[in-house]
Amino acid sequence: MQILRTLSDLRQWRAAVPAGRTVGFIPTMGALHAGHMELIERGRKENDLAVVSIFVNPLQFGPTEDFTLYPRPFESDRELCERAGVDAVFAPEAGEFYAKDHATYCEVEGFDRFLCGASRPGHFRGVCTVVLKLFNLVQPHRAYFGKKDIQQALILRKMVTDLSLNLEMILVDTVREASGLALSSRNVYLSEGEKDRAVALFRALSKARALYLDGEKNAEKLKGILKAEIETSDPTRIDYVEIVSQARLDPVLSLEEPFVMAVAVFYGKTRLIDNFLLP
Ligand code: PAF
Repeated sequence: MQILRTLSDLRQWRAAVPAGRTVGFIPTMGALHAGHMELIERGRKENDLAVVSIFVNPLQFGPTEDFTLYPRPFESDRELCERAGVDAVFAPEAGEFYAKDHATYCEVEGFDRFLCGASRPGHFRGVCTVVLKLFNLVQPHRAYFGKKDIQQALILRKMVTDLSLNLEMILVDTVREASGLALSSRNVYLSEGEKDRAVALFRALSKARALYLDGEKNAEKLKGILKAEIETSDPTRIDYVEIVSQARLDPVLSLEEPFVMAVAVFYGKTRLIDNFLLP
């Protein structure tokens, strides 16, 4: 497995890939967990070569967010990639990746007005900018993203379509614990009690899905069910309970088009997100 530290290392590695061989790309910020490993596994199986990027992208952190505190366990990430059969890891320093006078950004307009975008202004602009630059450098045939961060995945898919990027976006199902709790790097911050309570997110989504499949098409009613079920778990704060269209990521009233039920809830200081895509 090669470790690529500079843009020119990556360009050289990419130029040496023989024509006709496919490249799968898994962008990450490191601190890899089983959810990332699922993306890596798919990327490896479905392509001749798999590249993982590990880069904590300063552009997607707000001024009050934890950019400097974000975990960077590079050695264990490297080992995990090696064991998973990854061909190359691209792990640049921020100063290497962005020039001091970097001034170009990419934005999918209107898609960050709701869900996580509402409380993180500029976050998805930072995500789109870094991913577009990474796509440009890696030139992958396929790129892998988790459905757990559904707003990110759908915004990036829209960017790929709008800019006619020549790659396939693969959205991979959320990996869950046996209880239904979605895997997240943030789960380590939960106490045992909070972890038990947080299973309410999956329970609420499952309940609302069952009602929808039984014929309920009123989004407000389903949001009520979601909220009521989450409230039984004594959450510290519900950040949002939303039902939005998959095509535009804006709230829908009637469930006639593909939609996402998405929730963000605090247990203690930890903010958890989860969602179901329907139908
Ligand atoms: O999901 C993440 O880890 C990041 O947002 C991504 C896609 C690697 C961009 O920095």
